[in-house]
Amino acid sequence: MHTESATPWLARDYVRDVSSGNVTDELANDVYRLVCRTDLSSPGFCLLNLGSNASSESLRRFMVSLKRQLQEVHQARRQRELVFLSAARFDQQTTTKLHRDGGPDECFLVLGYEPSEVRSEVVLADYSRCARDMRLTPNEFLEQHNPMFGPGAELLRPYATRVEAFSNEAAQVLLINNSSAALSKDGTTWQGVLHTATIVNPCDDKRRVVNSMMVASVPLGTVEPVSLSEQDEFITTTTVRRRGYDRQHLTDDQ
Ligand SMILES: [Fe+2]
Repeated sequence: MHTESATPWLARDYVRDVSSGNVTDELANDVYRLVCRTDLSSPGFCLLNLGSNASSESLRRFMVSLKRQLQEVHQARRQRELVFLSAARFDQQTTTKLHRDGGPDECFLVLGYEPSEVRSEVVLADYSRCARDMRLTPNEFLEQHNPMFGPGAELLRPYATRVEAFSNEAAQVLLINNSSAALSKDGTTWQGVLHTATIVNPCDDKRRVVNSMMVASVPLGTVEPVSLSEQDEFITTTTVRRRGYDRQHLTDDQ
């Protein structure tokens, strides 16, 4: 069923308070419904606020735990697996245009933002809905109107949601359906959105740490590309890669 909810989405549609730090069944089912959408009746993203006191490690532990709970929901509903394709930490202070991260046709991002003095604004655009309204598939839309290279951003303006609740002062997890799959008649393919971040006050001396994971839907029995020990390393490491700096691409930050 396709409802014609107007974008932008309201905060109550996609913002959740998770200051308890607990990944409950209720939360996992709610996040799955919001993010792993197979039609256009939910946002395709959600923002989880863990508050300003959550440590970096507890944020990352929460992210991995959430993915494992979502995996159980996915297995039960789709008889498929959810696997990590990547898990890494970046100091990300580069303003981007609306884009889709490179990845398979069906995948989502789990972005864990640590509190930072660097402020940013995040916008999501429902390009799957825009494509549907133009009688295109999401891939055709990107081929013909990619907002990275042309005026596609104008077409997407009515489909954009600025994440007003995004705060540089709290630990937050933003989940983004990053798929490019076409709508299927049997309602099983994920429908993605594009994302962008505008950095308000970038600063070489400060960090804006984004713990970044990509998760994909794969057949049962597929070996997870990121091993359990690599997942543990992701949770505990102090290494932060720097992104968007010409002179320094990688730094070991203790
Ligand atoms: Fe991205």
